[in-house]
Amino acid sequence: MRPISFALAIVAATVLGVSAGEDQPVKPVRLPIRRIARRNLPNDDARYHRNRFQPIHYDTLLENADGTTTSSPSPDTDDDQKEQNASVHIVPLLNDLELYELAVNVEIGTPAQEFLLLFDTGSADTWIPSNKCLKADGCLSGSQFDSSKSSSFHETKYPLNITYGTGNAEGNYFVDTLKVGELELDKQVLAMVDTNEGPIAQQPTAEEGGDQYILDGIFGAGYPGGTIMYQRFNQSYYPFPQALYLANKIPEPLFSVFIGESEQSEWCGEIMFGDVNKEKMNGDLIYTDVVTYKHKATGLSVHERWNVFLQGFQLRNVNFKFSKAGTPFTIDTGSNFMYLPKHLATQLAKTIAPDVQLVDNQFIVDCKYMEDNEEIKMVFPESGAQGTSVYIALPISRLVARREEDGQCMLFFVPSEHYILGNMLLRNFVTVFDFGQHRIGFAPAIETDKDTTTSNKSDEDSKDEQQ
Ligand SMILES: *[C@@H]1O[C@H](CO)[C@@H](O)[C@H](O)[C@H]1NC(C)=O
Ligand SMILES: *[C@@H]1O[C@H](CO)[C@@H](O)[C@H](O)[C@H]1NC(C)=O
Ligand SMILES: *[C@@H]1O[C@H](CO)[C@@H](O)[C@H](O)[C@H]1NC(C)=O
Ligand SMILES: *[C@@H]1O[C@H](CO)[C@@H](O)[C@H](O)[C@H]1NC(C)=O
Repeated sequence: MRPISFALAIVAATVLGVSAGEDQPVKPVRLPIRRIARRNLPNDDARYHRNRFQPIHYDTLLENADGTTTSSPSPDTDDDQKEQNASVHIVPLLNDLELYELAVNVEIGTPAQEFLLLFDTGSADTWIPSNKCLKADGCLSGSQFDSSKSSSFHETKYPLNITYGTGNAEGNYFVDTLKVGELELDKQVLAMVDTNEGPIAQQPTAEEGGDQYILDGIFGAGYPGGTIMYQRFNQSYYPFPQALYLANKIPEPLFSVFIGESEQSEWCGEIMFGDVNKEKMNGDLIYTDVVTYKHKATGLSVHERWNVFLQGFQLRNVNFKFSKAGTPFTIDTGSNFMYLPKHLATQLAKTIAPDVQLVDNQFIVDCKYMEDNEEIKMVFPESGAQGTSVYIALPISRLVARREEDGQCMLFFVPSEHYILGNMLLRNFVTVFDFGQHRIGFAPAIETDKDTTTSNKSDEDSKDEQQ
């Protein structure tokens, strides 16, 4: 999900019934939270990564408007005792088919107040509704955070204003306990909004044919450089995954996402904090590096988002090549489809289906392509390597779905101003978000993926078509 202050807007995509069946909804199955013993990592490795984080001065975050400073939460970074107890955790992920979004349960404050949040690698701030935000203000779920009822709550002097394509979400940053599954941080920077015109305000309610899940807010799993606080105030904090690692709660500086598939909204996915769940993989991981940006205000080179360079597509023996360096694409669990500039999306769609029609910004194709097993490949520069490329591949059939409302078939490419690879692609892979080595890994996911592959080199024989 893309706040506009990052120069990109979320594309309002129509919510479609892609694979949702007609059957009665089944009760959601919650995967048990599993605890896995810490892998035997050499301690030096872990310390090496931890030391690569830039210090963030939590004291300044907590200064009140009047200049006084409240107590200073600062993450513990060098506690050997804790480090030895770091363990991998799996947190269940809701695959919400109404929205094609993923969601995670969190608990905030003391005693805990519960929220269901969109799990979003496309943004970095985690926000929930404040107790001022009513349904009419865009907080549809009715769940609100009451800070006066949390004994661990601290306010900050920083307001939050996120501009989405559909409007703004406005509120304030605060610090409190955040618990996700069994993982808990005492002093996590979070935000609460008093008004919301963002995508969370666009959900269908049960009366409008929606399911029983109404998401309360957003869980931002991006980089510190992607927070609104950094963009607006040149000040930042570690989002939950990085903060977990700094507090020695997880063994490795990464999290991995498996989406899973279901005919209904279901808790069929998982986030693994601190490692990759090999049981969900059906092949090797390939890695590509995260793009760095020069921050305008500071001139510093920062990782702002989970963006990687894509060098091109290969499809039906045609190469769609970008420049040698590639074009940055966001690997975004907060987006559904694959968003591409119109000319490129159109060329790809025509290569898949020459008789494709663009209707209401959706590519309508013959439903026979649901059976098309020819591969589409996406080529990336290999992480750490000089000039070698790696690719992910999947059959065209995985990019086509039948719309529930009219039985027509559509492609998951959406013409847009943006470059985003969202859940309809990511559901085919286990995706590793590695903030220690600043790289993203993909491995074919089990079950859904018999034809999904990753490999080291791209097809050299194919005909070129310059982009
Ligand atoms: C780590 O584990 C040891 C032994 O199991 C235990 O005594 C200690 O309290 C734990 N430390 C933390 C910070 O949980
Ligand atoms: C939030 O940002 C939008 C867009 O920049 C602006 O129109 C609005 O006034 C801002 N709200 C506040 C409270 O600053
Ligand atoms: C932003 O913060 C950095 C580090 O705190 C500082 O070096 C830099 O001068 C600041 N830049 C601006 C424009 O405030
Ligand atoms: C890529 O190729 C290198 C050397 O050719 C090999 O060591 C590595 O395991 C390969 N990786 C994958 C994902 O196939």
